[in-house]
Amino acid sequence: MEPEDVRKDGHFPYPPLPHPEQAPGGQVFPDIQIKQFPRLQRFDVDFDLPDAFIPELPPVIFLQNRPKLGDVSRGEKLFFGKAKCSTCHPAPFYLDDKMHDLQVERFTKEPGDGPIKTFTLRGIKDSPPYLHDGRCLTLEDTVEFFNLILGLKLSEQEKKDLVAFMLAL
Ligand code: HEC
Repeated sequence: MEPEDVRKDGHFPYPPLPHPEQAPGGQVFPDIQIKQFPRLQRFDVDFDLPDAFIPELPPVIFLQNRPKLGDVSRGEKLFFGKAKCSTCHPAPFYLDDKMHDLQVERFTKEPGDGPIKTFTLRGIKDSPPYLHDGRCLTLEDTVEFFNLILGLKLSEQEKKDLVAFMLAL
């Protein structure tokens, strides 16, 4: 079969991965089943499934051809530039082994925890929740956290790009 024929008849066996912001999907369940049970498109992936199938943590390759969801290369530039993350999380280990007082108490009524050692960001997507007390449940939360703490004024797209980069570490 020629590629055009495969496309015309919809025979390509590897449809795109499901993602909350990319409605068409269905690598895990065939289309016919999703039509019958729409909830399957956002099914609960608590166990048994490899990372590549978790809609909330799309594989890097998936992000690379859907830059709207966050772009790894743009995220890398931000990380080492405007967002200043690399000042405390420098490559290759993405940590500086130093203590930093983020002064969270500027924003809360808590007393604050004083200086805390930086964590490595290698493989960070696999170890939620984040920060020493687990106050950030997702990588999106940590980006928002540092956006406030560091006064970065990142745009929504820039936040997505940083998350995409951290998924790749
Ligand atoms: C001033 C130094 C500093 C800068 C700049 C900084 N971080 Fe951090 N980062 C820390 C410290 C210290 C911690 C540990 C804080 C805690 O546990 O409360 C941390 C923790 C984290 C964690 C959680 C790690 C884990 O294992 O729980 C993530 C994710 C993270 N930083 C991402 C970023 C990103 C993204 C940026 C840039 C937007 C950034 N950091 C900028 C110092 C910094």
